Amino acid sequence: MAETVLKLDGVSKVYGYGRPGAIQTRALDDVSLDVKRGEFLLVVGSSGSGKSTLLNMIGLLDRPTTGTISIDGTETSQLSDSHLSMFRSSRLGFVFQFANLIQELSVIENVELPCQILGGPDANVGSRARSLLDAVDMGEHIHKRANMISGGQAQRAAIARGLINEPALVLADEPTGNLDSKTASVIVDLMKRMASEIGQTFVVVTHDRHQFADVDRIITIRDGTVHEGETD
Ligand SMILES: Nc1ncnc2c1ncn2[C@@H]1O[C@H](COP(=O)(O)OP(=O)(O)OP(=O)(O)O)[C@@H](O)[C@H]1O
Ligand SMILES: [Mg+2]
Repeated sequence: MAETVLKLDGVSKVYGYGRPGAIQTRALDDVSLDVKRGEFLLVVGSSGSGKSTLLNMIGLLDRPTTGTISIDGTETSQLSDSHLSMFRSSRLGFVFQFANLIQELSVIENVELPCQILGGPDANVGSRARSLLDAVDMGEHIHKRANMISGGQAQRAAIARGLINEPALVLADEPTGNLDSKTASVIVDLMKRMASEIGQTFVVVTHDRHQFADVDRIITIRDGTVHEGETD
C-alpha cells in the first residue's frame, strides 16, 4: 500500500468567518481526502465549486476555518506562519495558469529561483535545473531571457521550476488554461511523464477534462464537497 503524502481531515473554509458584518461563503464543506505518493489526481467541477479554494488550502496559501491538512507526515496547522512559508517553499511546487516567470532573468535562473528563496548553499541546483529543463525539452533555451520565449515554452520552464525543490507535492491550478490545445497536450504529457518516471505526486485543477485522458484518479468538487470520480 503506497504511502499517504497528503491528508485532509474535515476541512471547511468559510470566507468572511469571524468578521462581523462580512458576507460568509462556505467554499469548502467538511472535505476529507487521502492522496498517495506518486498519484496523479485531477480535480474538476463547475466554476465557483471550490477548486481553487481547495488548492489554496493544500498549498498552505490560506488556512482552513476548521479541519487539518497533513503533508508528508506534518500536520500543518501546528506550524507558525514563518515555518509555514519555509515548509511551503521546501515541500511544495506550484504551477499556475500563467507561467509568471521573472522576465529579466534567464530561463535557468527562473528555474533555480525557489532554491535561492530557501537560501543555503546547494551545489547541485545548477545541474538539477539543467536536467529538469532537458526533461521538459527546454535544454536549448536555458540562457534565453524569459521574455524571449513562447507561452508554451514558459509553461514548460514553470513546470521545471515547480519540481526544482523535489517537492512532496506539485499543485497546478489550470496549468493549460492559457494555452492552445496542441501546446496544452504537450504540457499534460509532460506532467504525466514526470508523475510516472520520477513518481512525482500531482494535484491538478482543470476545466480541460478532455486534455487529461486516463489519469490515476479524478475527484469532482460540487458546492464545496468532494466526490470520487467524474460526477458532474
Ligand atoms: N477570497 C475570497 N473571498 C470570498 N469569497 C471567495 C474568495 N475566493 C473564492 N470565494 C468564493 O468561494 C467559492 C469557491 O470559489 P473558488 O475560487 O474556489 O471556485 P473555483 O471552483 O476555483 O471556480 P473557477 O472554476 O471559476 O476558478 C465561490 O463562491 C467564490 O465566490
Ligand atoms: Mg478556480
